[in-house]
Amino acid sequence: VGADREAEEEVSFRKDGAAALDWAARYLERVGELPVLAQVEPGEIRSRLPTSPPERGEPFANVLRDLDEILLPGVTHWQSPRFFAYFSNRASEAGILAELLAATLNSVGFLWRTAPAATELEFLTLDWAAQLLGLPSGWHGHIEDTASTSTIAALAAAREANGGSFVVCSEHAHSSVDKAARLLGLELRKTPSDEMFALRPDALDLTDAAAVVATVGTTSTASVDPVEVIADACADAGVWLHADAAYAGSAWVCPELRWSQRGVERADSLVVNAHKWLFTPMDCSLLWTSRPEDLRRAFSLVPEYLRTSESVDSLSEYGPALGRRFRALKLWAVLRCYGREGLQAAIRETIRLAKLFERWVEAEPGWEVCAPRHFSLVCFRRDGSDEENEEILERVNRSGELFISHTRVGGRYVLRLAIGSDRTTEADLERAWEVLRSSEAS
Ligand SMILES: Cc1ncc(COP(=O)(O)O)c(C=O)c1O
Repeated sequence: VGADREAEEEVSFRKDGAAALDWAARYLERVGELPVLAQVEPGEIRSRLPTSPPERGEPFANVLRDLDEILLPGVTHWQSPRFFAYFSNRASEAGILAELLAATLNSVGFLWRTAPAATELEFLTLDWAAQLLGLPSGWHGHIEDTASTSTIAALAAAREANGGSFVVCSEHAHSSVDKAARLLGLELRKTPSDEMFALRPDALDLTDAAAVVATVGTTSTASVDPVEVIADACADAGVWLHADAAYAGSAWVCPELRWSQRGVERADSLVVNAHKWLFTPMDCSLLWTSRPEDLRRAFSLVPEYLRTSESVDSLSEYGPALGRRFRALKLWAVLRCYGREGLQAAIRETIRLAKLFERWVEAEPGWEVCAPRHFSLVCFRRDGSDEENEEILERVNRSGELFISHTRVGGRYVLRLAIGSDRTTEADLERAWEVLRSSEAS
């Protein structure tokens, strides 16, 4: 009976697997035709689903059917070529397939012994990524789920290293810095920024500070803090420098964009999210440090049941989580299937399109670009009140044709269009601009 059941499960896994892969392929083909922002009301999807789990197991085909019929209308399509909100991100085919394989292996890497390949591939891919981005050799790199966790890990190490009591960042730093400071019991001091939305280093007072977080590519406008000058101040004061390049760090695969990396080589830690602009499925946050021993001091805790005879580093000793997914597999797949040239071409194309959009806005009477564009994010607005701009955003997002987000800079409501998909074409951008312009008239 056991053997029969196994044979049956194998057949159904192949059959369901083929159907799921076919579903995924068809989805990627047609995602550009679906409304980018889910056109549902809160609670609508849940109300269409049974309130209790089934008593008896169902065929997997039912799951696929309900994915299509019930869940899909409630999906906001991050894979759409006209998803321009936040920092848009596309999961590439190589990354998607590697996620399937990682789930199949289900490695849980809390010790080298529980996942030798996952552990060693994580070290290797982080070394590869460091080479691709032009980072110093010899840094210790590992993967966390998100930049939020990476920053918690970095600031915990900083607190351990120098016993400082507060963290400094610019007013434009991401809220994950606030959250990390709050969790770690560190005070957060925000310094003002200059007219380019970059941290003003003359305003730094680092006596008794634990760390400075310098951002390369802030969330609002992708502004770049003067990391080199901040690094001098940190070195003088014995303060940890954490660089948050969660979005813009991927741009360093292109040598012409490494001007924004200046000073990062002197950071004590650096976070870059491969799941933002490096075509890797969520979640994959790359955290490097030049001071791995400090991370280890902050996080290493080895109870008896985890002691082994191997004298090999366990990556769980460098961050908060014990059980770790095989995330390196998807990053490895992406780096191999794109190669340096493929990544450069993809990043350059997103930037070319952003430049093009910026030019269209500049050339259009009644519209203005609101912040310098460094990468693939354009901040812009229509002449008029904040309310009118908010109305434009709501209208275009409701249209389902594109999805954009907003921020507030210099006290004004500003629209943001970020390009992060290598599937976005000039035609997609033209369509987006057409919808934006027509929406102001109505
Ligand atoms: C500059 C910056 N840092 C950190 C984060 C947080 O990223 P995550 O969602 O991976 O925690 C973001 C998110 O957009 C960001 O823009």
